[in-house]
Amino acid sequence: MAKIIGGITTSHIPAIGRAITLNLQETPYWKPFFDGYPPIRQWLSEKKPDVVVLFYNDHGLEFFLNKKPTFSIGVAPQYISDDEGWGIATIPPVTGETELSWHICNTLVEDEFDITICQEMKVDHGLTIPLQLMWPGNTYGHIKVIPVCINCEQHPMPSLKRCFNLGRSIAKAIETFDKDLNVVVFGTGGMSHQLDGQRAGFINKPFDLMCMNKIVNEPEDLFQYSVRDLVEQAGAQGPELNMWMGMRGVLNGKVTELHRNYHIPISNTGAGTMLLENK
Ligand code: DHB
Ligand code: FE
Repeated sequence: MAKIIGGITTSHIPAIGRAITLNLQETPYWKPFFDGYPPIRQWLSEKKPDVVVLFYNDHGLEFFLNKKPTFSIGVAPQYISDDEGWGIATIPPVTGETELSWHICNTLVEDEFDITICQEMKVDHGLTIPLQLMWPGNTYGHIKVIPVCINCEQHPMPSLKRCFNLGRSIAKAIETFDKDLNVVVFGTGGMSHQLDGQRAGFINKPFDLMCMNKIVNEPEDLFQYSVRDLVEQAGAQGPELNMWMGMRGVLNGKVTELHRNYHIPISNTGAGTMLLENK
């Protein structure tokens, strides 16, 4: 049977891609951020996952404001990074995993999650930057990626509880998949940030740290925050926390926190990095 071995949270800011391309990891601005990754890479190289279930959001590339699925899942054999700029270099394609992807889709629909199923899907920094961070030199080609995309761009957006429950259903699918695969789950994006408007640059460190503490073993305590609360507390892009909740829903009741890093600001954003091992 497939096994869920752990969860990882990471920022997906496009400027990270540019810093990787320009080799800025050791510069004073970037070092405190990039220093958060070696322990996670070490864990990944020991655990050797076969599949990443990757919760991300599409920033207007595959789904623009005229068509916006709340939840969409990729079932393609390959995904091309087709980001809209940000100074990101061209990178190799991402490998898909069609069988488990379809099994997840079947389970979700049985569980009354009416997802959009994507046999083709362009992907952006929300999905690619986390892979580049975990596998330096763009060596992620051997990992099979299942993209789970959550609408964080246009209201109405799903609640934290709904995203957590989406994760629970995905866990059920993985645990009933009849192949010996090790699966790791990524919750990408966040934490507090607002990219435009009057509060552009808004970051809320106490709120971010509270969310990091709660996500470990009291994720349900975060259900009290509505999407509107998230915008107030964590900025217009604060609902990206939904990807963290999806990831956390896939893990079991109790997890072990093996590592964390929090650094502000990276670009306009509070960058939170965590490694949670499934019990
Ligand atoms: C930034 C953050 C994001 O989440 C994003 O999608 C694009 C840019 C930023 O802080 O620059
Ligand atoms: Fe984003």
